[in-house]
Amino acid sequence: MILLDGKHIAAQIRSELRTEVEALTANGRRVPHLAVIIVGENPASVTYVNNKIRACQDVGIEADVIALSDNISQEKLLLEVERLNANPSIDGYIVQLPLPEHINETDIIRAIDPMKDVDGLHPYNVGLTAFGLPSIVSATPKGIRELLARYDIQTEGKHVVVIGRSNIVGKPMAMLLMQRPYLALSKTASAALGDATVTVCHSKTRNLKELCLTADIIIVAVGQPCLLTADMVRKGAVVIDVGINRVPALATERGYRLVGDVDFKLVSKKCSYITPVPGGVGPMTITSLLQNTLQAYMMNNSQ
Ligand code: GUN
Repeated sequence: MILLDGKHIAAQIRSELRTEVEALTANGRRVPHLAVIIVGENPASVTYVNNKIRACQDVGIEADVIALSDNISQEKLLLEVERLNANPSIDGYIVQLPLPEHINETDIIRAIDPMKDVDGLHPYNVGLTAFGLPSIVSATPKGIRELLARYDIQTEGKHVVVIGRSNIVGKPMAMLLMQRPYLALSKTASAALGDATVTVCHSKTRNLKELCLTADIIIVAVGQPCLLTADMVRKGAVVIDVGINRVPALATERGYRLVGDVDFKLVSKKCSYITPVPGGVGPMTITSLLQNTLQAYMMNNSQ
């Protein structure tokens, strides 16, 4: 079994990004600028946002956090979004999810300027991705594709089971994997990615175990510890664990530990490649956000 070391690959890509950002300043250009809106103080979201900001600083991208109260009205939040749309010094921004219940997430996402939508969540970008056209691609699927590419794991003709149908991971992941390879969107993703046969499973799927047992690659993104157990995995399969779940661990300083959606201990004994949690998909997601920010900068400042 080989660990898909997202932390290591992310560090490699960040070093490449740092060089690209340094080249901009060397040519007298300003550095890319990301903003992150966070509403409320959900502890996991605060940690994710801090990690994103730290990653920006690491590669020389300027980053601001706009922290808003969890009782902000939808109208006021929309005004913040419009402010960022109109601000020429902001190349891209994200609205950290989830949002409080009284806010309609879709309304907020639809208000984001698609050219600044570095999460790749706006229907315009999702539509371009579905067409196989250049777009800003959702960060987690993009990071997974990059991880597979850098370990030279081919997807052509493979059966990939994606568990989870979210707009942020499951759906865009399926779209990228089923695409024809000549439409590969990133310059670093190997041309052989895509061309997979994709099955998307979710909470109403009846024969999840049987489907998983036919998979060459399983990608789990449901947010449920130990959802994928060893009896569901064929020997030699590739397993990608997108889950980041906090489970109580009183003996630890933080009072919790992070686990994925996969029963890592037993599944890792059967598969050929597997991502650890933490240190697998998480750092790749953040790195994709940095890539998307540089992409938005280039698209919006191409003259
Ligand atoms: N919440 C968890 N992951 C993400 C992400 O990639 N983007 C946003 N905006 N919110 C998230």
